[in-house]
Amino acid sequence: MKSFDGLMAVVTGGGTGMGAELVVQLAAQGCSVATCDVNPETLAETAKRAAEDAPAGVRITTHLCDVADAAQVARFRDDVVNEHETDHINLLFNNAGIGGGGSFLTGKAEEWDRVFGIDWGGVYNCSRAFVPLLVASTDGYLVNTSSVNGFWASLGPGNPHTAYSAAKFAVKGFSEALIEDFRVNAPHVKVAVVMPGHIGTDIISNSRRVLGGAEPDEMTADDLAEARVQMGRRGMPADGMSDDQIRGMMKMLQEGFKSMAPVSAAQAATIILDAVKAGKWRVLVGDDAHRLDEVVRGNPEGIYDEGGINLISVMQQDS
Ligand SMILES: NC(=O)c1ccc[n+]([C@@H]2O[C@H](COP(=O)([O-])OP(=O)(O)OC[C@H]3O[C@@H](n4cnc5c(N)ncnc54)[C@H](O)[C@@H]3O)[C@@H](O)[C@H]2O)c1
Repeated sequence: MKSFDGLMAVVTGGGTGMGAELVVQLAAQGCSVATCDVNPETLAETAKRAAEDAPAGVRITTHLCDVADAAQVARFRDDVVNEHETDHINLLFNNAGIGGGGSFLTGKAEEWDRVFGIDWGGVYNCSRAFVPLLVASTDGYLVNTSSVNGFWASLGPGNPHTAYSAAKFAVKGFSEALIEDFRVNAPHVKVAVVMPGHIGTDIISNSRRVLGGAEPDEMTADDLAEARVQMGRRGMPADGMSDDQIRGMMKMLQEGFKSMAPVSAAQAATIILDAVKAGKWRVLVGDDAHRLDEVVRGNPEGIYDEGGINLISVMQQDS
């Protein structure tokens, strides 16, 4: 696939972050796009931005759909077929995802299941619904977003990260297994697994919203207690902080995750789209992802040892 001009793409989680940038860049390159999200406001914003840059003839449609719900995904697929008057799509970006579900032992089972249901179930549901439309094309590409947590199931010492990692490993395994499945059964369709490092997006606040968590200013006593535990695990002296200081710190973490990232969402989308044009199946995004990949491959037995990998220092090394 050397160009996206005249093609048809589906992008999940197109409201913000990498999904929104994929929609905008695909549209600018002449590709019609159907995108879904659970947030109607951000979806509308993405559609507006995409339309501004799109050449004539490009169609952008937005769809409210929770990718964890197979019935909603089936409706989304039917709406795409009807609204774009098409019997095929060329590209499916399974991008929607949230963080959470840290501890399997002490966290809420509902949160764990919701994270796994979106991050793995969403990829599964959308693949079930849309892969037949990729196969119906003459040139198709399935692009599944995993994470560096798809090859390293940790955030570093003291921070269990079970639901997200389990889901992202599943996405990576599924994508790699599909390479042969497509080669045998639909050789005109390719698959890629995307493994971003730290990308500047609103994933922290979006995840909190999807999981029903309170905004920092509206945190209850229970929320504040939980935040103190989480911050303590990250080595912050949360016990001595007032409630307002905790709220301020939560806002700073949220904003800092976006503003301090080494790679922006727009840069990540460009890396992903260039990889698709180059026919790649394994897409690491960011120098931090490349470094972590090397570290994990260099010493697979040691990566979960106490002090085995210091994520912050891997992320912060000069490239
Ligand atoms: N930002 C990072 O550092 C990073 C790193 C590695 C992997 N990722 C992965 O990249 C993907 C995109 O994340 P992002 O960082 O751009 O975050 P983001 O929060 O900006 O974008 C994700 C979008 O998915 C939507 N979404 C969430 N749950 C949904 C659901 N059930 N159904 C439909 N849409 C839903 C959100 O509303 C949001 O618009 C995710 O799969 C994430 O796990 C992100």
